[in-house]
Amino acid sequence: MDTIRILVLHGPNLNLLGLREPGVYGHVTLDEINQRLGALAAAEGVEVRCVQSNHEGELVDEVQRAREWANGILINPAAYTHTSLAIRDAIAAVGLPAVEVHLSNIHAREEFRHRSFVAPVAVGQICGFGADSYLLGLRALIDHLKKMDSRVRGNDTP
Ligand code: DQA
Repeated sequence: MDTIRILVLHGPNLNLLGLREPGVYGHVTLDEINQRLGALAAAEGVEVRCVQSNHEGELVDEVQRAREWANGILINPAAYTHTSLAIRDAIAAVGLPAVEVHLSNIHAREEFRHRSFVAPVAVGQICGFGADSYLLGLRALIDHLKKMDSRVRGNDTP
């Protein structure tokens, strides 16, 4: 496989991490999360591009553009997790493997956060580990992409 390239997408209000409800989301800033992802990616020989937007349409545009350059998507859709058919459809449309992550355990919070529109079109969901959810998600996505590649090449080991 050529170099694996991954789009990391952060949804609305995640630009305020560090300041925003630290009791729920912790004190780590988005820049720090992106730096940690960059360091893990470099150690794994993978390229990541991190984008944050507060706008649903921009997130849809990024997912669509990823078709042209990325092998997979790591996404925290934030509040759009629970509302956005458009983001879900964009992920389904491009057909790139996506891993959904959340800092908080959305299933242990208010009922309106229990449903994810994205989860049914994602490879999987990781939530509840704070900033580490992103790192666990990136590892999971890289492993998944490598396994997919070895299956295509026919040298998969059982
Ligand atoms: C979140 C959980 C969402 O319910 C919330 O709207 C967010 C952040 C998380 O990372 O825990 O903005 O996605």
